[in-house]
Amino acid sequence: MVAFLCFGLAAGAQVQVRIHETAKDQPVIPADIYGQFSEHLGRCIYEGIWVGPDSSIPNEDGYRTDVLNALRELKVPVMRWPGGCFADDYHWMDGIGPMSERPKILNSNWGGTLEDNSFGTHEFLNLCEKLGIEPYISGNVGSGTVEEMSKWIEYMTAQSGSMAELRQKNGRQEPWHVKFFGIGNEAWGCGGNMTADYYADVYKRYVTYCHDYTGNTLYKIASGASDYDYNWTKTLMQKAGKQMAGISLHYYTVLNWEDKGSAINFTDEEYYNIVAKSVEIDQVLKNHEAIMDAYDPQRRVGLLLDEWGTWFNVEPGTNPGHLFQQNSMRDAMVAAMCLNIFNGHTSRLKMANIAQVVNVLQSMILTDGPKMILTPTYHVFRMYNVHQNATFVPTEYKAGEIVSANGRIMSDLSISTSSKDGKFHVSIANPSLDKAQKITLNFDELKPSSVSGEILKSKKITDHNEFDKAPAVAPVAFNGYKLAKGTITVEVPAASVIVLKIR
Ligand code: AHR
Repeated sequence: MVAFLCFGLAAGAQVQVRIHETAKDQPVIPADIYGQFSEHLGRCIYEGIWVGPDSSIPNEDGYRTDVLNALRELKVPVMRWPGGCFADDYHWMDGIGPMSERPKILNSNWGGTLEDNSFGTHEFLNLCEKLGIEPYISGNVGSGTVEEMSKWIEYMTAQSGSMAELRQKNGRQEPWHVKFFGIGNEAWGCGGNMTADYYADVYKRYVTYCHDYTGNTLYKIASGASDYDYNWTKTLMQKAGKQMAGISLHYYTVLNWEDKGSAINFTDEEYYNIVAKSVEIDQVLKNHEAIMDAYDPQRRVGLLLDEWGTWFNVEPGTNPGHLFQQNSMRDAMVAAMCLNIFNGHTSRLKMANIAQVVNVLQSMILTDGPKMILTPTYHVFRMYNVHQNATFVPTEYKAGEIVSANGRIMSDLSISTSSKDGKFHVSIANPSLDKAQKITLNFDELKPSSVSGEILKSKKITDHNEFDKAPAVAPVAFNGYKLAKGTITVEVPAASVIVLKIR
């Protein structure tokens, strides 16, 4: 049986890439598509971010120092919290006031783990302030009331009134700045098992009482579809499109929910199957965008991919409810190719939040008690942060194709360019496991005078970073390019991710 097929250019042929830096009126890539998601799930919040001020793990006011520093480096633009499914089980008043008096609840979505509520509204919003991250709060529709949601917004953002007084009594004088507010999560599933029609009415009722206080303007987000559920987007846009600033979408790379496969032990065939499934997001986005265009041709309503990433079986011996998975060079390839895709969708796509930032699914960071490692996915996000708030530059090229064993067709090259402050950044991903590619970058008019770059690549595609070992996957300086006569020729190794800086 053929595991996968590649239809590329003849051996030795060069891929001609044309970068249209003279193209006018191109969108700015919103930093928020490089966003993160933090959920009260497994060891994401507790141990992953929050260890408490009395912990022996070095911390700043209870936030672990190593993770804070890694997040600073990443330039996280926005972070979603407290869920996920947890959000529709979360009652925010449990998470304010003296920590010793906060109720202990069972996290029934995620392994029945005891949740002591020591990380609540103050702890999350103060973290965002500390790191300059835009907070994205996910409100409880499934098991909460309109009054509860409305008072939460007042507590966080009002200058005066009894909710502001309660906040002040709990130690925070001034309101926080909160921009993004989600009205429920996965309303079709763990957020209440509603139909699209029913949720559209519920959404309108809840959103009516999500008020703007003290000059704080909320960007109100409706709970959107999963994957290929285009009817959900259509119904919401039709019935409630005028009352929302944005609608969400969730897309996880999973091939079989019964057995999602291992994060680190996989065959080449499984590698291609996963990467091909992940880049299918391109078509899924196009389909949702086309529906939104029909109801909102001005593109006022944003599409927010507020959960995405790979989802594999949990690591052997870990709590099945905690969704802890390792992260390999395959995950890095998924991240690189998806981020290149997102850069091209930003006339509608305004945010994306990979799930989740620490210790859950396709994480940036893994911890083991006091130890911490950066994942291959982290390195891609760090290398790609140059695209945040840069101007999109259309980039044309004709690549070959890879047909995965599960019948998906993907390009054997993925390239995206942006410009900022007189510099161009070109991110290049070569998903082929055995074919290096030679590419030539040509600009419309620019005659580049300098190039530098970084590359992420490992010996084996299953390589991953482990505690107490030297990193197997980490970026290094890249010098596999030649600058001559105004063009740049780049040797792109198989299974590598490169970001070039060009002037
Ligand atoms: O990311 C894990 C879960 O996946 C989230 O809590 C939920 O929204 C989604 O189903």
